[in-house]
Amino acid sequence: MLKRISALVLAGLTAMAVAACGSSGSESGSDGGGSGGGDDSITMGFSQVGAESGWRTANTKSVQESAAKAGITLKFSDAQQKQENQIKAIRSFVQQRVDVIAFSPVVESGWDTVLKEAQNAKIPVILTDRAVDSKDTTLYKTFLGSDFIEEGKKAGQWLVEEYKDATGTVNIVELQGTTGSAPANDRKEGFAEVIGADPKFKVIASQTGDFTRAKGKEVMEAFLKSNPDIDVLYAHNDDMGLGAIEAIEGAGKVPGQDIKIITVDAVKDGMQALADGKINFIVECSPLLGPQLMDLAKKVVKGEQVPARVVTEETTFTQEQAEQVLSTRQY
Ligand code: AHR
Repeated sequence: MLKRISALVLAGLTAMAVAACGSSGSESGSDGGGSGGGDDSITMGFSQVGAESGWRTANTKSVQESAAKAGITLKFSDAQQKQENQIKAIRSFVQQRVDVIAFSPVVESGWDTVLKEAQNAKIPVILTDRAVDSKDTTLYKTFLGSDFIEEGKKAGQWLVEEYKDATGTVNIVELQGTTGSAPANDRKEGFAEVIGADPKFKVIASQTGDFTRAKGKEVMEAFLKSNPDIDVLYAHNDDMGLGAIEAIEGAGKVPGQDIKIITVDAVKDGMQALADGKINFIVECSPLLGPQLMDLAKKVVKGEQVPARVVTEETTFTQEQAEQVLSTRQY
């Protein structure tokens, strides 16, 4: 009997949850607001990639805190790194008639259909952090985020300078971000363009580490087994670089010395490793997009013009610079 009652309660709760969210990623946020609310408060549906890295955690915090500060009701959905979950979340936001949808696309391709649905429902969409490769740029109002190609170039420029006097081959291994994602595609492209000008730079292995510490470690272990002469590691984010450091130390080598390491992001753990001499250079990628996102959201909801592209300002860090700024890092 108790089992049957529990099953009924569970079925009821499930039906309510599906009706409310229609999303298989985890969604949270307060109800109310939206176009149907009849007042001028704004409800934003936000589909986040997941929680794969320190960068992502800082980005989620920035979005949530900024929404609260701006008086915007946030319906937050975590896609757990799956495009299908993001598509479901966006459809759910359309059904709920939110005022604006913002999302950070896990991969670049395959968004046209769902973005068309949002456009048909007259709900403006803002891309944040990562881009889509849709030919139809009217499907979204603006794209706020870093220039990932530029980040890859900065990584390459440091390497070229660091090895300017070297005459022999420089063997590089690359830990790529999530396959098909804008930062993985672009950071690879920008880096390859710069180092490609000098044939002494050779990328001897390049594989995805999915932007996670665990996968970074696992792939680096495999790189070390099959390539005894690695000079440089280029990791598309700090987390993979930090995982790789564990693998390098496990193999009895000294990270930062036996193998030079370049990463992207500049989150606190990465900056600590840079200050400690285990990483040699970090290209900054700021996750603090929340305040600008909320400003843009207010404007697009009012129907005001916004720039088609808003590029985040970023810098780079050497080991000495990391020591100086570490105590004041916000993320
Ligand atoms: O899209 C930004 C990238 O995604 C960050 O560099 C990485 O750490 C994150 O997972």
